[in-house]
Amino acid sequence: MNLLQNASNKPFVITVASTKGGSAKSTNAANIGAFCAEHGLKTLLIDTDIQPTLSSYYPLDYQAPGGTYEFLHFRDVEPSHIISKTKIQNLDLIQSNDPSNKISPMLRDSPDGALRFSLLLSKIEGYDLIIVDTRGTRDISVDMSVLAADVLFCPILPHILSAKEFIRGTIGMYHDLQTFADFGFTLPPLKAVINCVDHTNDVKFVSEQLHILFKTEFDESKTLLDFTVPDKVAYREAATFSVPVYQQSRSEYKTIQQLCSLLMPQFAHNHFVDKE
Ligand SMILES: Nc1ncnc2c1ncn2[C@@H]1O[C@H](COP(=O)(O)OP(=O)(O)O)[C@@H](O)[C@H]1O
Ligand SMILES: [Mg+2]
Repeated sequence: MNLLQNASNKPFVITVASTKGGSAKSTNAANIGAFCAEHGLKTLLIDTDIQPTLSSYYPLDYQAPGGTYEFLHFRDVEPSHIISKTKIQNLDLIQSNDPSNKISPMLRDSPDGALRFSLLLSKIEGYDLIIVDTRGTRDISVDMSVLAADVLFCPILPHILSAKEFIRGTIGMYHDLQTFADFGFTLPPLKAVINCVDHTNDVKFVSEQLHILFKTEFDESKTLLDFTVPDKVAYREAATFSVPVYQQSRSEYKTIQQLCSLLMPQFAHNHFVDKE
């Protein structure tokens, strides 16, 4: 939404959201974050989920004493107090440190609740890219993360119950947030990607139905990318060993490279060229 949308030094913000747990949000945030960082983009991951999967995905070189709680509560904090450094070059992290869920009620009680995050992000300096991971249920922390984004990336699992929840929950949230348009804000374009795709007929059927839905029911602000992330044990193994999946094999490299290029075409030419 981008209060400073046209400022040239403003980092590009991707929010990964879907109102469904287990739909590969954190996995995607970790992999695209590392890929962008290793390809020269100074990248900051922000974990806003109270279950801090992304916060512990990669080993750290420096662990900041604070995290999202201090970032959102105290507003003016020293970057080194809240920004941790991963062992991956160029990849920093604001860890989620809100296990007892204090941030959401605090934001709900604040007049600037859903908008504070946008303002705080616009004050962060020194990054090309910010990737925000969110929790898998509708919450003010997800609303604020969508409102602060330049692009909303929604991973969808190709199973009928997940697809129905996507339509009810994630699309419902997006429509609710349109109310901010009355105050002059523009919602980020929604880019959905089907994840964990195997070769079963059920997955094929649900994927086709999703494509039809996007073409016939949704306007151009919402796109289902003509690209899928396969269901592969490599993704779970990479998480087990705390490494990016694209380091596992050439085919995973190609998948993450293509995903990053589709989500951030503005960086593709200069940054996402083959390293191998
Ligand atoms: N492409 C994939 N293939 C196989 N397993 C995957 C893939 N992407 C994610 N996973 C696994 O799915 C599970 C849920 O992923 P996660 O990223 O934690 O979801 P979320 O953040 O949406 O709750 C994890 O065990 C993860 O390793
Ligand atoms: Mg997660």
